[in-house]
Amino acid sequence: MSGDSKITKRVDVLREQINYHNYRYYVIDDPEVPDAEYDRLMGELRQIEEKHPSLIVASSPTQRVGATPLSAFSQVTHEQAMLSLGNAFSDDDVMNFDRRVRERLNTDHVEYVAEAKLDGLAISLLYENGELVRAATRGDGATGEDVTHNVRTIDAIPLLLRGNNFPRRLEVRGEIFMAKEGFCKLNKAQLNKQEKPFVNPRNAAAGSLRQLDPKITAQRPLSFYCYSTGIVEHVPDDAWPQGHYQIVRALRDWGLPVQKEMKLFKNISSCLTYYQEIFAMRDNLPHDIDGVVYKVNDIAQQKMLGYLSREPRWAIAHKFPAQEALTKVIDIDIQVGRTGALTPVARLEPVFVGGVTVTNATLHNESEVLRKDVRNGDTVIVRRAGDVIPEVVSVVLSQRPENTSMFVLPDLCPVCGSKVIKEETISRSTPRARARCSGGLICDAQRKEGFKHFVSRQAMDIEGLGEKLIEQLINQNEVRTVADLYRLKRDRLSRLERMADKSADNVLAAIEKSKSTTLPRFLFALGIREVGVATARGLANHFGTLDAVMSANMETLIEVSDVGPIVAKHTYEFFRDERNRAVVDQLIESGLNWSDIAVDVTDDALPLSGDTYVLTGTLLTMTRDAAKEQLQALGAKVSGSVSAKTTVVVAGEKAGSKLTKAEELGIKVLDEAGLNALFATYSL
Ligand code: IVH
Repeated sequence: MSGDSKITKRVDVLREQINYHNYRYYVIDDPEVPDAEYDRLMGELRQIEEKHPSLIVASSPTQRVGATPLSAFSQVTHEQAMLSLGNAFSDDDVMNFDRRVRERLNTDHVEYVAEAKLDGLAISLLYENGELVRAATRGDGATGEDVTHNVRTIDAIPLLLRGNNFPRRLEVRGEIFMAKEGFCKLNKAQLNKQEKPFVNPRNAAAGSLRQLDPKITAQRPLSFYCYSTGIVEHVPDDAWPQGHYQIVRALRDWGLPVQKEMKLFKNISSCLTYYQEIFAMRDNLPHDIDGVVYKVNDIAQQKMLGYLSREPRWAIAHKFPAQEALTKVIDIDIQVGRTGALTPVARLEPVFVGGVTVTNATLHNESEVLRKDVRNGDTVIVRRAGDVIPEVVSVVLSQRPENTSMFVLPDLCPVCGSKVIKEETISRSTPRARARCSGGLICDAQRKEGFKHFVSRQAMDIEGLGEKLIEQLINQNEVRTVADLYRLKRDRLSRLERMADKSADNVLAAIEKSKSTTLPRFLFALGIREVGVATARGLANHFGTLDAVMSANMETLIEVSDVGPIVAKHTYEFFRDERNRAVVDQLIESGLNWSDIAVDVTDDALPLSGDTYVLTGTLLTMTRDAAKEQLQALGAKVSGSVSAKTTVVVAGEKAGSKLTKAEELGIKVLDEAGLNALFATYSL
């Protein structure tokens, strides 16, 4: 054997051994050799590769960390949408789920797999010919971010699959998370470096995965368990396992780690018993879990059950009960929102609940505070369930100190001193009495919130202009209205705290970039009460130009789909206010621009005007309501039944008789991808 081929051979052996030891360690949890031996093998491989760089391949275990950081993440469209799970909060909810499953399947024989619901981030891993070629986050389910460079650094995720009987293209799905021990170590290190600690393992995992520099991710203790597949090509049905449990077993054989908690059960009551077991050992598990997932095992049954909206009918997450804790109210503050709404907020002695340290809890509004009779000094039960904003559940009256007094809502705004107005009007988003500051733009709190809204992603989308910066700009009188943003000067901006010249330039560039926008974005950015993204789009579509929206009267405003009397009134009044008109004028003068939308005063000129759409089957990338709303915003009528008058039938998965009828009548049929393409064509 020549020297070269001897070396190539050695490299192959080393890689194979390292992969084998990884498998023993991460997948079957049964390491065969001490760490030092593993390190020795890696050391030897590294040495050879350094001497013979031509032998380096991307899938070599030495090549987990890429050389250069990225400048941004690119988008990945999931070939199969990444869905979410419905929730069950009680045994009853679970029993009902099982009943629905059995009724739909018309059988009492349903096996379930129970798994821990890992508290991390969903990830899609694409293997082509056994090699990891792409990793993407879930994102909104339809599109995620390409995080391949970071995922490659996670030792538990194999760069190469084991064996040779895997599909040519295989998408593995699972959860990336951080174990509790690693999280504690990471936070200690953060504190030592005088950097902010992460609030919980989930956030730490998310933050670690979203690094542009894979070297940072490589130092973070991330783990991974797989729990399903996405795209699988091309395997004949009879060569593919027929149960979820068996599929995950196959993934395990190919070298992917699987949680030990996964179990197969004959019926739902065994699942419920198992739930209690897992719940009892929850705190002793090495990682956070937030419930137990039950999945119908039989793939044929899963297919029959299908999906409802974006959730499978064949699976459900049985969540652990909301987490509650006791703490003391230090004060009750009043927060002022963008539209002046006053919200009482309880300032609390810090308390660890639901995985985070909570220092504030919302009290919603005056009547809620009075109903619960929350007072300064009270001991209260605080709840933080999942990602919901922490709230005060109730007061422990027996622990109330002496000399407390009832909460009184101030008559004057605590921020600007303007009169507080109590509104009784019932609006869509706040169906209760609301107290509002009447200060409008003279109120710093309202201005700050208005700025935050104006720069936000769905509005003018000005990156790098965060809350802290906005606060400084307002406090130092650099800006009075949002129009002033477009007159900011570099030297004044770079003088602000934590503003190096580089970031001043970045902010200015982002502001400049935001000038070319769209009419719907601009209308939404103005922050007119009750005008959300969809309404802004409706207004833009209907009127076509800003001038037309501004001069519209109540009657014409109400003609817009999605606009009722309340929204019409807010919109009308907004543009009758001199101050608002001045801001709009200045914005336009600064060069904000967009293409006007070609429409008549009537809806006749919308792209889908005169068309009638029928939606049928299950849509995976959006809810049916969302599809309906978008179609209507484009001018289409959306009807429930197919007739000769129907223009297009949108057929999701498992479309039934309506699709058949459409085909019989020769009506155009769009699938979900076609619908998305249609929306993309007309997106404003
Ligand atoms: S299955 C269609 N299994 O929960 C079913 N998800 O609410 C898709 N998750 O985005 C998911 N542990 O991030 C599944 N054993 C498990 C899980 C799990 C955690 C997460 C996952 C998903 C979310 C759905």
